[in-house]
Amino acid sequence: MKAPIRVAVTGAAGQIGYSLLFRIASGSMFGPDQPVILHLIEIEPALPALGGVVMELQDCAFPLLKGIVPTANLDEGFAGVNWALLVGSVPRKAGMERKDLLGINGKIFIGQGKAIEKNAAPDVRVLVVGNPCNTNCLIAMNNARGIPANRWFAMTRLDENRAKMQLALKAGVDVTRVSNLAVWGNHSATMYPDFYNARIDGRHVTEVIPDVHWLQNDFISTVQQRGASIIKARGLSSAASAANAVVDTVRSLVTPTTEGDWYSVAVHSEGDYDVEKGIISSFPIRTNADGSWEIAKWVPVGDFSREKITATVNELKEERELVRELLG
Ligand code: NAI
Repeated sequence: MKAPIRVAVTGAAGQIGYSLLFRIASGSMFGPDQPVILHLIEIEPALPALGGVVMELQDCAFPLLKGIVPTANLDEGFAGVNWALLVGSVPRKAGMERKDLLGINGKIFIGQGKAIEKNAAPDVRVLVVGNPCNTNCLIAMNNARGIPANRWFAMTRLDENRAKMQLALKAGVDVTRVSNLAVWGNHSATMYPDFYNARIDGRHVTEVIPDVHWLQNDFISTVQQRGASIIKARGLSSAASAANAVVDTVRSLVTPTTEGDWYSVAVHSEGDYDVEKGIISSFPIRTNADGSWEIAKWVPVGDFSREKITATVNELKEERELVRELLG
């Protein structure tokens, strides 16, 4: 039996946590022969609810779940963890400006970054889900400089999955036939799902779906506004699909990517594709056979895509300016 992987999940008593924890414990994230220990991190007022989640996890009798550490103490929560999934954050409330939200959540991610650097396992990798996830990731990373920049990620996989399904529905094909869907930039309404480089059965999407007007307009806005549509319909933000995207992201990061394909996750920009160095931006990413990841560097960017990428990157630059004093 392999040694257990320790996985920290913040906001563990929240909506996403309620879908995510059971997927991790059942083996969906790390495979059917990899035991896990879950570190469930919450704020004090949510500890009673977290207690209920712990009871339910126990009641599943998952063979792979070798321990549960529920806590509001960050040192305990991040002690020895190999993965830190930072889901918890404070939602935007009526009347709150973006700057206010960035400031409130920024402070959370300073403390979490520091606690991860101090307590986590030497191989720790961090995936930020709590919004605004790219900039929260930037803040945590800059407050944990002992951890290499290539171990920090922010989630755009839900946008990728949404985009792939919209293309599959339009083309009338199974979603597994859609590949090479890169989401660029920020996980926000400016993100750009790059249909020009996506493929359906290996063919350019624009060959299979010749309606370029639909692709450039309705498709992009449907994906960009999907989160808002779900809130409108459900009265709550997407949670099961977000948890599923967390599972997909981690699986993609630990599994070599199929030859020629790529997936989406936001990483620290080194300036590739003229994306401002230092921000956390989504790119087309590949995982290599040795477990390292790289940006797929051969993806053509035409004028339409360049304009969209510039807009979303500009938003990330603005967000960085708003939290400049939190970057240490
Ligand atoms: P939720 O409000 O149901 O749960 C959030 C949980 O975080 C609560 O239990 C709360 O007590 C906890 N929390 C708040 N501050 C904390 C802190 N300092 N430390 C630990 N826990 C803390 O929210 P939900 O639906 O689970 O969403 C979580 C986050 O994920 C939100 O920011 C949401 O916007 C974001 N999200 C991101 C997506 C993405 O694609 N990147 C997709 C969907 C949601």
